[in-house]
Parts: sequence; C-alpha cells; structure tokens
Amino acid sequence: MDGGGDQSGQAQKQKGAISNIVIIIAMQSEALPLVDRFHLTEDPHSPFPQGVPWVRYHGSYKDLNINLIWPGKDPALGVDSVGTISSALVTYAAIQALHPDLIINAGTAGGFKAKGASVGDIFIISDCAFHDRRIPIPVFDLYGVGLRKAFETPNLVKELNLQVAKLSTGDSLDMTQQDESSIISNDATVKDMEGAAVAYVAELLKVPAIFVKAVTDIVDGDKPTAEEFLQNLAAVTAALDVAVEKVISFINGKSLSEL
Ligand code: ADE
Repeated sequence: MDGGGDQSGQAQKQKGAISNIVIIIAMQSEALPLVDRFHLTEDPHSPFPQGVPWVRYHGSYKDLNINLIWPGKDPALGVDSVGTISSALVTYAAIQALHPDLIINAGTAGGFKAKGASVGDIFIISDCAFHDRRIPIPVFDLYGVGLRKAFETPNLVKELNLQVAKLSTGDSLDMTQQDESSIISNDATVKDMEGAAVAYVAELLKVPAIFVKAVTDIVDGDKPTAEEFLQNLAAVTAALDVAVEKVISFINGKSLSEL
C-alpha cells in the first residue's frame, strides 16, 4: 500500500484493491475468536430474512470491510447449523446482501495421514468436490461430484508458506466405505462439511472464493473421529484464527490478481 505524500495520514486506496470480504464459518467456536480478533460487532439490523438464525458480524480491519457470517444455531435443536444446506444458504444470502469482492470459507476439517495431513495443519484448498452425492448415471455422476477450483492464490500461499491440498465435502462427520472411495477418487487430503457447497454458490454468483481449513482429526487414524475432533477443537481453532488473520493481512491492499 502506497500512502506516500498523503498528509491526512489516511492510506490511499490502491486501484482495484479488494475492499469487501465475506468470511463463512459454520461453528460458533470457530467464529467467535475471529470476531474478537478483528473487533467485529454483530449487525443489529441483519440483512437476512427475519427469523433465520444466521448472524452477520462486521467491522473494518486495516483497509478492509470484513463480514463474518455464521449460520447460527439450529432453531429446534440449539446446535451449530453445520453442513452443506446452511452453508449454501448463507453464502447465497451474504452475496446477495453484501456484494463481497471475495469469499473466505474457514473452518476445521478431517485430514488424511496417508496424504500427509497432521492435526493442527492448515491448508489452502485448490479444489473442492463432494463425496456423498452418488448418482451413477452418465454426466449426473459428474454433477454429483461437483468438482470446482478455488480461486488461485499463488502469492499468498508462497508468502505465508501454506500447504495446498484438495478438499472433499459431505454432510457427515464420519465416513462410510463408499464415502472413502469417493474421497480417494477426489484425491482429497482434507474432508469437511461445507467447502464444496460454498464453492458451488460462489461459482453460480461469480464471486471468487478461497478456503482455509485446519485439521482437527485424522480420518484414517485409529482414534474415533468425533472424540478426536472435540478434543482438538479449541487448540486447532486457535491455530485457524492465527492463519485467517495472516491471510487477511496479506489480502489487505491487494487486488485479486495479486493474491
Ligand atoms: N470437520 C472436522 N473434522 C471433520 C471430519 N472428520 N469430517 C468432516 N468435517 C470435519
């Protein structure tokens, strides 16, 4: 950022610089540390339909306008609205209401040690696909897999020394044998419950999307997934939080083509 010669002390906005970011985060425990870190506040006049649990936190950070969208708690059951349906809905609603230059989907994921993942690793995603949409009819099979590329960020990956991997998304925390074969054929290193759904909506509405995923559990390890996930959630969320701040600081003052 070149604010040179600006006597007012206000940084001069670089031409084409990204200014409006939407961060989609499924779990409250993942979202709140970032709300604190960026000093975001909950929007009292939500841009979302009345009665939905979706929450918008917003604020400024450096030269960026940051919106963090959390799908909220399930109205009937009181747990985080994880999974593809809620994440697709909030991505759609946030794009319509807030017109972001860039979407960041951040969250935890299961990792495959056979592909080199360890608990606490942070990945930038190159490709997203689904592993639980099996439609064994020509072309519908490809629709089900729903392979999409994330927006490429070669400079960000290099500068922050981040690992790049493929993501496979499904609506279950556990993994059936059929899921496993699809994940292998998706060549995925990490498995989540939102990414490919966010990628679908972002592509439909032509908004670039990037994905930051932190590994809480090893899917092909010997620990029960739910137990390992809950055990590591707090520590890994803290690591995710640090990574997301670095990503956002890198983005600040840059245009999409500089990422
Ligand atoms: N999020 C964290 N761990 C996960 C897993 N094993 N599967 C899907 N989503 C996850």
